[in-house]
Amino acid sequence: MADMFSLITFLGLLLAPLACSQDIAETLCGQYGVYSAEPYLYNNNAWNEISNSVEGAFHPFYTLWKWTSEPPVVHGFPDIELKTDLLPLQVSSLHALNVSASWSLKPVSLIPGASADPNTQPDADALQANGIQCNVALDMFADANAEASQTPAKQKYEIMVWHARFGAAAVPIGWTSGAVATITIGGSDYSLYTGTNSNGQTVLTWLANETVTDFSFDVAPLMGFLVDQQHLPSDVYLGTIQFGSETFYADNQMNFSVSAFSACHWESP
Ligand SMILES: *[C@@H]1O[C@H](CO)[C@@H](O)[C@H](O)[C@H]1NC(C)=O
Ligand SMILES: *[C@@H]1O[C@H](CO)[C@@H](O)[C@H](O)[C@H]1NC(C)=O
Ligand SMILES: *[C@@H]1O[C@H](CO)[C@@H](O)[C@H](O)[C@H]1NC(C)=O
Repeated sequence: MADMFSLITFLGLLLAPLACSQDIAETLCGQYGVYSAEPYLYNNNAWNEISNSVEGAFHPFYTLWKWTSEPPVVHGFPDIELKTDLLPLQVSSLHALNVSASWSLKPVSLIPGASADPNTQPDADALQANGIQCNVALDMFADANAEASQTPAKQKYEIMVWHARFGAAAVPIGWTSGAVATITIGGSDYSLYTGTNSNGQTVLTWLANETVTDFSFDVAPLMGFLVDQQHLPSDVYLGTIQFGSETFYADNQMNFSVSAFSACHWESP
């Protein structure tokens, strides 16, 4: 028999009807603007706002940001969060969690029509010329307590998968200690860094060896590896799944855009 199948969502199913609706073309402004279109929640999440601006819009989700204070520190994490009754979910019963996304990043000033793919010109040079410092990451949180696993800053574990990093400030916790493991997924190498953040959370970061703008892979083996290597207890609950960009610095306004995001979960057979 096939595995028990519980679909969290497929982007196609979600977006097809929404794309036709004018009502959905809302703009998200302000420091903690939130817009919900189940099963996704869009967060501006600029907790360290100084004098710069953050705004966003949906379908496709994009956010415009600019932070110029020195030294560069993380100012926010505009993101898409998965909201579903299937979370929290004990890591031991995670059988397959396929996550896919497509994203782009470019200075707003880049000539109209130019590619927004940071791997191609003229975008790559334009990002560098703006001194950009940020990452693009899947950010997940887990805790032995199911409720805490969904409560910001209360979770014991933060598990990240970085698909890109730009600039010297955007480095995983544990960077100076070096990677403790590397595995290959979808043709890219992901190296594991571990450490503790200022909230006292254990942070386990998988960092890609190259900028991965389109991906579709199963997160379960990454979790399984962390359990096998005793970085993560198998009885913790995965409570929070977000995809976005930790933004540190850019001379001029940046446009981070997510044109597709989906996550599907299959329970253990
Ligand atoms: C940001 O990017 C999105 C997606 O490509 C696009 O629809 C939007 O017009 C852009 N906004 C600006 C101000 O460049
Ligand atoms: C990243 O790793 C993959 C898989 O090993 C390899 O094919 C690719 O060339 C590497 N990319 C860079 C930029 O080193
Ligand atoms: C989930 O991802 C794995 C690994 O990428 C893949 O082999 C599998 O076919 C995917 N399952 C579905 C239903 O997409």
